[in-house]
Amino acid sequence: HLSVQERIEKKRKAALTGGGQLRIAAQHKRGKLTARERLELLLDPDSFVEYDMFVEHRCSDFGMEADHNKYPGDSVVTGQGRINGRLFSNVGLREMLFCCQDFTVFGGSLSGAHAQKVCKIMDQAMMVGAPVIGLNDSGGARIQEGVESLAGYADIFLRNVMASGVVPQISLIMGPCAGGAVYSPALTDFTFMVKDTSYLFITGPDVVKSVTNEDVTQEELGGAKTHTTVSGVAHRAFENDIDALLNLRDFFNFLPLSNKDPAPVTECHDPRDRLVPGLDTIVPFESTKAYDMLDIVHGIVDEREFFEIMPNYAKNIVVGFARMNGRTVGIVGNQPKVASGCLDINSSVKGARFVRFCDAFNIPIITFVDVPGFLPGTAQEYGGIIRHGAKLLYAFAEATVPKITVITRKAYGGAYDVMSSKHLRGDVNYAWPSAEVAVMGAKGAVQIIFRGKENQAEAEAEYVEKFANPFPAAVRGFVDDIIQPSTTRKRICRDLEVLASKKQTNPWKKHANIPL
Ligand code: COA
Repeated sequence: HLSVQERIEKKRKAALTGGGQLRIAAQHKRGKLTARERLELLLDPDSFVEYDMFVEHRCSDFGMEADHNKYPGDSVVTGQGRINGRLFSNVGLREMLFCCQDFTVFGGSLSGAHAQKVCKIMDQAMMVGAPVIGLNDSGGARIQEGVESLAGYADIFLRNVMASGVVPQISLIMGPCAGGAVYSPALTDFTFMVKDTSYLFITGPDVVKSVTNEDVTQEELGGAKTHTTVSGVAHRAFENDIDALLNLRDFFNFLPLSNKDPAPVTECHDPRDRLVPGLDTIVPFESTKAYDMLDIVHGIVDEREFFEIMPNYAKNIVVGFARMNGRTVGIVGNQPKVASGCLDINSSVKGARFVRFCDAFNIPIITFVDVPGFLPGTAQEYGGIIRHGAKLLYAFAEATVPKITVITRKAYGGAYDVMSSKHLRGDVNYAWPSAEVAVMGAKGAVQIIFRGKENQAEAEAEYVEKFANPFPAAVRGFVDDIIQPSTTRKRICRDLEVLASKKQTNPWKKHANIPL
């Protein structure tokens, strides 16, 4: 007989080795780290406090009640920890709660006990106002437990929904995630994936073959490339476990702890009044010529550091996080390099979701505008561009965080209105001298209003003189100033300081009804 102390030690030791050395070796052979190795990389040293190490599954079917089928902690490691705990001046220590599925125990599958552990940390996260990070690596519902496991998923989904907009929720997919399991990451704010070793799908290749007769590999169906370039389900993909976890640490630094906390402010070594002379010549003289909006973003933000979200999906819009004088900001920019920076279905949805995240979590939004309009065509109309474009418009309009807009070149038509215009409660709206705020480009405009008339060239020149410049907007106060591009960083840093105390609310409602 073992003493209580000995039993505690024995169980702790068992929990630390998960499904045992053989399964750990198999996990390594797949190119993956174990749950505990992952947590060691993600968290600050000595900041890991584990919960529920003694929890075991309660299944008694299929021989599961046998001692050798019980693993202390079951198939998930949960607890609290810190990421870059002492880096920030305004948020104190940065505790967050995590759950990390352990593939070495029943393939990380979700038992009732597993779900209960996850729910416990989510409930606590909501009560204290701390972000939740999930590292997913699981064969799905614990088959031996049946409906108990399905109930567990629903318990987690409900909490994902309740926590939405209250605390940041991040999922990092580090292995399989299939069936109902996909809906937890889908409900979180950001879903990241590891290349080659992770996949997300509703049903696997075999079921696909039997239902639609399509031949598709696991990777093609739900790998990182598919979800970061085609489906838009995942926001970024990383090379391997280590790369993913280190990036997650960097990413976490941009986020506030909850919707009641301010976005973090770090010490900034990049002068707030730094001029960026390169920007004075960045916009090509010819208005149909492309340039890279990322060059503008990198030039303006602190230390050229920009964490792009969805860099390989709907590349005609750029979104991501950066800092200005140490403050986290969300950046949105049309990308003239891709499809002339027009707005289409995918870029509208991408932009809208990002803007809503920033607004929910007190992150000021800086918008760089060079947009020739919405993309025309049957594919877009049949796909519902009206409904989807409305999402971006809606998101900017409802946002009450500080909103600063810089029109670098074109701001045409309805897209001008959409892109955080003055009319949607933009706080500070700038135009560069190269800005053209108009209903459309000169050629198209003249073809319509002077159809069949002679002297088209003359009319075009007149239109350009009248409209293809920042003055029509500036004389009406729709932009607050026409600024020299090189001064943009200095101006924005100053504005953010003034706007830091901005308070604005929307009318009371049960919840809004964004077009979906
Ligand atoms: N329930 C219970 N145990 C599961 C499980 C599940 N859903 N998924 C995997 N496991 C167990 C396996 O029995 C195996 O146990 P062992 O170590 O005692 O042999 C272990 O987890 C590892 O699984 P294995 O199949 O050997 O790993 P793999 O890398 O070859 O394949 C999967 C991984 C996820 C593709 C495969 O396990 C699978 O298809 N699982 C079922 C997925 C599913 O349909 N889930 C229900 C839908 S929600």
